[in-house]
Amino acid sequence: MIKKCLFPAAGYGTRFLPATKAMPKEMLPVLTKPLIQYGVEEAVEAGMNTMAIVTGRGKRALEDHFDVSYELEHQIKGTSKEHYLDEIRTLINQCTFSYTRQNEMKGLGHAILTGETLIGNEPFAVILADDLCDNDGEGVLRQMVALYNKYKCSIVAIEEVDPSQTNRYGIIEGKEIEEGVYMISNMVEKPDPEVAPSNLAIIGRYILTPDIFRFIERTKPGKGGEIQITDALMAQAMSGMVLAYKFKGKRFDCGSVEGFVEATNYFYAKSYKE
Ligand code: UTP
Repeated sequence: MIKKCLFPAAGYGTRFLPATKAMPKEMLPVLTKPLIQYGVEEAVEAGMNTMAIVTGRGKRALEDHFDVSYELEHQIKGTSKEHYLDEIRTLINQCTFSYTRQNEMKGLGHAILTGETLIGNEPFAVILADDLCDNDGEGVLRQMVALYNKYKCSIVAIEEVDPSQTNRYGIIEGKEIEEGVYMISNMVEKPDPEVAPSNLAIIGRYILTPDIFRFIERTKPGKGGEIQITDALMAQAMSGMVLAYKFKGKRFDCGSVEGFVEATNYFYAKSYKE
C-alpha cells in the first residue's frame, strides 16, 4: 500500500513573478482552491494519507493552509459561509502534513532526495502540483497505484506532446508492454526536437521505489546544473525496470500562464456552469 505522497514545492516559480515573489507558486488558486490542494485531493483519492512537502523560501502560506485557522473558524461558525471551509477541513482531518526544506535549489532530483527524511524506506508517490490533472473517472495517481500494485516498480506518467515541444520535458523511449504502458529503455531531459527519441513526455506524477534515493545520490548535475530526476530514473531503469504510463485524463501546465488560464476556464466551465 502506498500511503505517502511527496510534493516538491521549492522551485522559484519565475514564470509567475511577481505573483510568486512572496508566495509559493503552489498556492496560486484555480478558482477558489490553491494548486497544492488539488494535488492533495488527488493523493487522498488514490488512498494516501501522509503528505510530505518539500518547501523553500516563503513556506508559511503552505503550512498555514493545511492547518486550522482558529480565528477564521470562530468568525464564520454558524454563518452561511461556513461551508466554504468544508473541503479543506476534511483534508486536514484525514491527512498528516509534514515539511522539510530544500536549502539550495539544485533541481527536482535533489528536492526529492531532500524528502527522504519524510518518506523513509517505502514506495511513495510524487506530485508536482503545478501540473494539474483531472479525470472524470479514477484520478491519475489512482490509475498509477493500480499499475504499481501489478508491477511493483517505479512509474512515471507520460503524455504525447507536440513534437516541437520536447525541449520542455523529460522524454522517454520504450517498448509498449500493454496498452499505454511502456518499459523504458531511454530517457532524455529536455531534448531538442531533432534529437528527441519520441514525443512521449514525462509529466508531474511519479510512483517511486525507495532505492531511487541511492540513484539520485549517485546522479551528477545534468542539464542546467541541476540534479535531474530523469537521470536517476534512467539509472534505475538500466538496473531493473521503470515503466511509463499514458494516463487517462487531462493535464494543465499551471506553471505557465497559458496553462493556468486554460485550467481556470476548464474548471470554471465544469463547476459553475452546470
Ligand atoms: P519547474 O521546472 O517548474 O521550476 O520545477 P520552478 O522553479 O517551479 O518554476 P519556473 O520554471 O521558475 O517558473 C518543477 C517542480 O520541481 C520543484 C518545483 O517546485 C516544481 O514543483 N523543484 C524544482 C523543487 O522543489 N526544487 C528545485 O530545486 C527545482
